[in-house]
Amino acid sequence: MGLRRLFGKKEKQEHRIMRQVMERGEKLQPEYHRPTPECPHPDRWSMYDSMTAEFEVLEFLKTLVTTAKPELIVETGSFMGASTLWLAQGLKENGFGKIVSCEYDPVVFAKAQDKVNQSSVKDWIDLRNESSLDMKVDGQIDLLFSDSDMPIREQEVRRYLPQVNPYGLILMHDASSHLRQVRDAALKLEREGLISVVLLPTPRGLVVAQKREGRK
Ligand SMILES: C[S@@+](CC[C@H](N)C(=O)[O-])C[C@H]1O[C@@H](n2cnc3c(N)ncnc32)[C@H](O)[C@@H]1O
Repeated sequence: MGLRRLFGKKEKQEHRIMRQVMERGEKLQPEYHRPTPECPHPDRWSMYDSMTAEFEVLEFLKTLVTTAKPELIVETGSFMGASTLWLAQGLKENGFGKIVSCEYDPVVFAKAQDKVNQSSVKDWIDLRNESSLDMKVDGQIDLLFSDSDMPIREQEVRRYLPQVNPYGLILMHDASSHLRQVRDAALKLEREGLISVVLLPTPRGLVVAQKREGRK
């Protein structure tokens, strides 16, 4: 047992989940987020852990990439790199494009970097150890996947919006009605006329949105 755990210093949630995954291995289990009016049977979905997006959402991310053929994907919040790898798998199948993904926690970043380096899609991924609110990305963003800290998701979308392709897609994870914060942020951006929103009823909720400006 680590000294921190022994002497009771609160372990950061990301580190705790990462440690548990490393101890027990990556295993799929039924999703255990609570039922919501829009998703009354979350256990019909599965997950590796409560930080990584639901397994079906990971599959959806890859399919979105093979369907919409983005050239530039930006992801905020890599965690252990699962969604990054699935998105990159789509790019590899397409044969072009790249994903820039940021993770600001250095311990988590190191783990994600290991996973990326061991994968067959590492050449498609530019992983950065920085905050989404500082990161600079060149070019037009065709797919923005906002999956970092919930309180800053609105800020993230506002920050990257000028660079988003009007025919591209904006995804905001954790937008279920029980988590509320991200859902409210997306609906607020919609009320302001900045984006159009579809609320996918997954256990943790996924906003699929498009920028309004420039849409014809
Ligand atoms: C929900 S997890 C991401 C899960 C990952 N996208 C997946 O599905 O596999 C959120 C991650 O965002 C990171 N994070 C929080 N705030 C951030 C920020 N401002 N910039 C970059 N990463 C951040 C956390 O350390 C955490 O690892």
